[in-house]
Amino acid sequence: MQKYNALYAQSGGVTAVINATACGLIQTARRHPQRIGKVYAARNGIIGALKEELIDTSHESDGAIEALKHTPAGAFGSCRYKLKDAARNGAEYERLLEVFKAHNIGYFFYNGGGDSQDTTLKISHLGKRLEHPLVCIGIPKTVDNDLPLTDCCPGFATTAKYIAVTTREIAFDVASMAATSTKVFVLEVMGRHAGWIAAAAGLAREEDGDAPHLILFPEIPFDRERTLAQVKRCVEQHGHCVIVASEGVRDADGNFLSAGAAKDAFGHSQLGGVAPLIANIIRGEFGYKYHWAVADYMQRSARHLASRTDVEQAYALGRRAVEMALDGQNAVMAAIVRDTGTPYRWHIEPVALAEVANREKKLPREFIDGDGFFITAACRDYLLPLIDGEDYPPYRGGLPCYVRLQNKMLEKKLEPNFDTA
Ligand code: F6P
Repeated sequence: MQKYNALYAQSGGVTAVINATACGLIQTARRHPQRIGKVYAARNGIIGALKEELIDTSHESDGAIEALKHTPAGAFGSCRYKLKDAARNGAEYERLLEVFKAHNIGYFFYNGGGDSQDTTLKISHLGKRLEHPLVCIGIPKTVDNDLPLTDCCPGFATTAKYIAVTTREIAFDVASMAATSTKVFVLEVMGRHAGWIAAAAGLAREEDGDAPHLILFPEIPFDRERTLAQVKRCVEQHGHCVIVASEGVRDADGNFLSAGAAKDAFGHSQLGGVAPLIANIIRGEFGYKYHWAVADYMQRSARHLASRTDVEQAYALGRRAVEMALDGQNAVMAAIVRDTGTPYRWHIEPVALAEVANREKKLPREFIDGDGFFITAACRDYLLPLIDGEDYPPYRGGLPCYVRLQNKMLEKKLEPNFDTA
């Protein structure tokens, strides 16, 4: 049987468990030396493929690859880069064909969010133009949890756990001092268009009256007066108010409350700053002392607090992606399917990339309560099993031990250098 090399690339915002997927994929490929030659990793996502910057993972020891399972972020580098429209500028696609041909790449695995699944789909169309077969498999990943047709996206559950735990801990702190000091705390969380991460903060609440007292979702237009009224009621009743706000909160016209001018390759605005904005609105109205925090990259790199479920799913998706490729699947994404009943069980199935690409899964309205400021029991039921279990990394000297790969580059075969600027 003909043997081809595999190309794996990480794409978009990284997560605490994307390297666990790389681990599952590389370990599984190593078990099929008769079908898969080497696993190359593109340096910095698809940009590395275009520039022929390929890492030869065969130089990494089994121990180093195993350590990826507990190492956060993207071991090979990731990128936000959108391939140009093939009809108007086909140069990038021609270049990818050349690179795949030059390095005998017959398997392409792209590990990313919605935009990346679109890239994988486009590359799968290329396959027909190669002299050898090209199999393209998408692997989900995004802390935003907004990919359709998969029960959840690896990376989300760990972020959800971090936000739920942090919200509970903040709540204890604020409650201790509220009588004489801070009365309002605003925590800003990620989730550009979908409120999944904000919703996870709701898991912190054990009893009525517990924090978080208000969650501001991107799905619910921000209503200044209603929000202020809720905050006032909450401080009068409980002495303090803990608010969790999604970075993606919008006004009634659909404009982000906190979008900067900067845009990424996909045209997404750089978000951030909704927490101080809301805290200032509240102080302006009531004079309450406040603190605010932006969970920012802490929430997506918090491997020390990983959900065991998340790590298991991330690893299994890498493993299954290789198995699907070897089974003859193509132009599909490996997706997590929730089995019915309790306890939580799941399995992995292929779904067509065409069904996933460029589609966003928002928090459904039935997961948000009638007031629009909290989650429902159905949302809790969905979220709880995802954050279940711990998977601590090994520690040395009080700090987690994470692996840094050698990342030895493959010798280039093509000229000239390709410009992705
Ligand atoms: O990966 C998605 C995401 O985590 C969003 O929630 C957030 O807005 C964005 O990434 C931040 O991206 P960047 O690191 O490119 O600024």
